[in-house]
Amino acid sequence: MARLVIVSNRVPAARERSQPAGGLTVALKDAILRRETLWFGWSGHLTSGQTASEPSIRPGHPTFATIDLPQEAFRSFYEGFSNSTLWPLLHWRPGLAEFRRDELDAYYAVNDMFAAALAPLLRADDVVWIHDYHLIPLGAALQARGAAQRLGFFLHVPFPPAPLFDTLPQAGQLLKALGAYDLVGVQTRADATYLQTAVRSVGGSVPVAPFPVGIGANAFEKLARQAQAIKDTERLHASLAGRTLILGVDRLDYSKGLPERFRGYAQLLRRFPAHRNHVTFIQVAPVSRGNVAHYRALRRELDELTGRINGDLAEFNWTPLRYITRSLPRATLAGFHRLARVALVTPLRDGMNLVAKEFIAAQPPDDPGIEVLSRFAGAAEELTDALLVNPSDPDEIAGALDAALSMPLEERKRRWENMMQVVRRHSARAWAESFLERLADPGRQAA
Ligand code: ADP
Ligand code: F6P
Repeated sequence: MARLVIVSNRVPAARERSQPAGGLTVALKDAILRRETLWFGWSGHLTSGQTASEPSIRPGHPTFATIDLPQEAFRSFYEGFSNSTLWPLLHWRPGLAEFRRDELDAYYAVNDMFAAALAPLLRADDVVWIHDYHLIPLGAALQARGAAQRLGFFLHVPFPPAPLFDTLPQAGQLLKALGAYDLVGVQTRADATYLQTAVRSVGGSVPVAPFPVGIGANAFEKLARQAQAIKDTERLHASLAGRTLILGVDRLDYSKGLPERFRGYAQLLRRFPAHRNHVTFIQVAPVSRGNVAHYRALRRELDELTGRINGDLAEFNWTPLRYITRSLPRATLAGFHRLARVALVTPLRDGMNLVAKEFIAAQPPDDPGIEVLSRFAGAAEELTDALLVNPSDPDEIAGALDAALSMPLEERKRRWENMMQVVRRHSARAWAESFLERLADPGRQAA
């Protein structure tokens, strides 16, 4: 079988291998197939010069090849065009999108650095699978360097309606660059429609299809079961002193709807005071993209909001909201998910949201908890037995939380069983296999 080459900006080798925060690396790590795989990406290190380093190769399964990138270009590429322009636009937030021509240029330049370093490593019969919005023009850049391999692209984040994307200067150039791919995958049917329309509006053409990303459900279920016995889970359990745990786990990102969620929880305690002193909400939100202005502003807002909510509502023996901005080991997170009776997964807009699936996989089958899920997460297309809410409305979140906290066991079980079936069926591995089968044989319909 042909070798698979995965390309992404972030690779798990670049940070703690065991606990990448971010859906892309988690899904791909869980999906690594039995075939020979090379995973190419940024090392996590920067150089002071103008050029990227030679690839550093770490053999294994998969083999990692990573490059260091020049500091200045990387900032404009990653903090600039990728995360200050594309990220907000793709998450339907044009008001937050900034545009600078020099950052757009750096975006193309860094994509070309990826292409220059990767092209010599490619074998003629490799299948190349490129991931996410950082690397849209990489396929075209590889072809410009003579690469003739089959090229697939997967967008992990949402794609907005075409007129919204069209507010981006040079949008057409970027959309046309997608023409280099033999297949473009997105998370949902809606994303596929929007992207297809946008590509056609600039006279381009490319096969686009939805492939909803999943998790390694059995592995996460096992991790969560085993994590019941680890020290962190036991300490958390003891610290709850019999209170019901409500849990949120997200990167600290404005797409995740955290201020609205915090307000929703505060509304629960105000409107339904019977829950006071009987629940504890823990939000784990590791700092992400901390050099980007809107992320820093969000952090300040959440610091203040946490202080205000606890100041207003705490009692001398109860802190309603615990807020942690560090990353936690995956096993600890799995144990927390297992203890939680309610998950709050309320992004304003999200490609998929793997946390929504991890919570389901971690629940005890005989007494499962309930998930309050945003209608605007890709996961809402599949997890229709969650309590679906509009994440912009704290009152709706409060109402759903109250319903979740008072739901009878039979109904919780019925909902959980339905969702667990979906989470198991649409695993990370099934996702990768169906994308790659379709890439190898474009005539085939998606599973
Ligand atoms: P995104 O890709 O936007 O970050 P997802 O929910 O799809 O959102 O994926 C996030 C992944 O990162 C999940 O697998 C989640 O468990 C992991 N993660 C999130 N927060 C933390 C954390 N505090 N510590 C470790 N892993 C985390
Ligand atoms: O899943 C969306 C995503 O943006 C990935 O592309 C990315 O790797 C992850 O979230 C975490 O973000 P970052 O790589 O900027 O830390």
